Amino acid sequence: MNTSYKYFFLLAVIMFGCGEKKKNMDEQKVKLKGTVVKSDFGSAPDGKVDLYTISNENGMTVAITNYGGIVQSIKVPNKTETPLDVALGFDDLSGYLGEHPYFGGIIGRYGNRIAKGKFTIDGTTYDLATNNGPNHLHGGTKGFDKVIWAAEEAMSSEGFPQLKLAYVSKDGEEGYPGELSIEVVYTLTEENALQIDYTANTDKVTHVNLTNHSYFNLNGADSSDVLNHEMKLRASKYTPVNELLIPTGELADVANTPFDFSNFSKIGRGIERDDEQIKFGGGYDHNYVLDEPSMSSPFATVRSHVSGVIMKVYTSEPGVQFYSGNFLDGSNIGKGGVVYGKRSALCLETQHFPDSPNQEAFPSTLLKPGETYKTSTAYKFEVMPTL
Ligand code: GLA
Repeated sequence: MNTSYKYFFLLAVIMFGCGEKKKNMDEQKVKLKGTVVKSDFGSAPDGKVDLYTISNENGMTVAITNYGGIVQSIKVPNKTETPLDVALGFDDLSGYLGEHPYFGGIIGRYGNRIAKGKFTIDGTTYDLATNNGPNHLHGGTKGFDKVIWAAEEAMSSEGFPQLKLAYVSKDGEEGYPGELSIEVVYTLTEENALQIDYTANTDKVTHVNLTNHSYFNLNGADSSDVLNHEMKLRASKYTPVNELLIPTGELADVANTPFDFSNFSKIGRGIERDDEQIKFGGGYDHNYVLDEPSMSSPFATVRSHVSGVIMKVYTSEPGVQFYSGNFLDGSNIGKGGVVYGKRSALCLETQHFPDSPNQEAFPSTLLKPGETYKTSTAYKFEVMPTL
């Protein structure tokens, strides 16, 4: 290297160093825009668990326990002065330890059903736990919603409060091949979005399909009816099912069926229609094929004129299970002693399609060693403008 090149090189190194230092200083300047408060949430059979209450500066609060990564409450701005809890759940851990339909939990290793609890990878057939008639549902008997996650309070690069959860699922757990290391990060943004970022790595080829099973009622978790909510869903196709809710493999048009939510429409509008698919689901319990998965433009907007709450849902996933709470039957007594009756809430479980391991035409859920599973979903809350 001649002398002038040497000087140029030295200058470049110094300038790069200064840039890095400035970046670090800028990072240090980022202040936490909210709080994360940890409190004791009792003891599960596998150990002690906590409840993390995350608040932003707009008065929105989300409580999450590291038991199952369960979102226990989501309190959002609305027409009134008092934040409204729009997520179903229990006041204490004992409710979550009993029988309940996955309220607020992280679902894995596979969200929704795998036919007959079987799939084959490279000529080897794996037998999973069958916990829904002959089929496998939501990760099996003890899915990710029933394990204790390691928890860490954190902050995003923008200063948003976060809860980072980690869990290592053993090779063979619930029948799945490979040790799977999962991280789920909940972030509460200053725009009132609860963002969920999932990552996972495996040491053997396996199937992964993670989601969150929050039940929403935008009139408040103590409201009995969700059928008056209006929804717009950007999905022109869905995956019809058989009577056991396993996809037939077909991608069907929603046009001219009760499944069409391409314009705002009441959830209750088509729910009692004489339609075979509606009968199989006992209402809506179907996977929609999203027109345009995106983290910047919502695939779904749900609103209630009663509370003035609007929920916009974003995802990087190709599908969503729209479930209208058909199996809620009054057997769960939730927060504040409220009885959760049939269709008192709805779920929008972002996901790959059900039974993908056995459906070659569906987007693949296979994860190989060396690859990183990475998906994101956000539930953002707004208030209807008053006229
Ligand atoms: C999913 C399933 C439903 C039901 C609920 C939980 O949405 O598709 O059939 O099992 O979870 O009760």
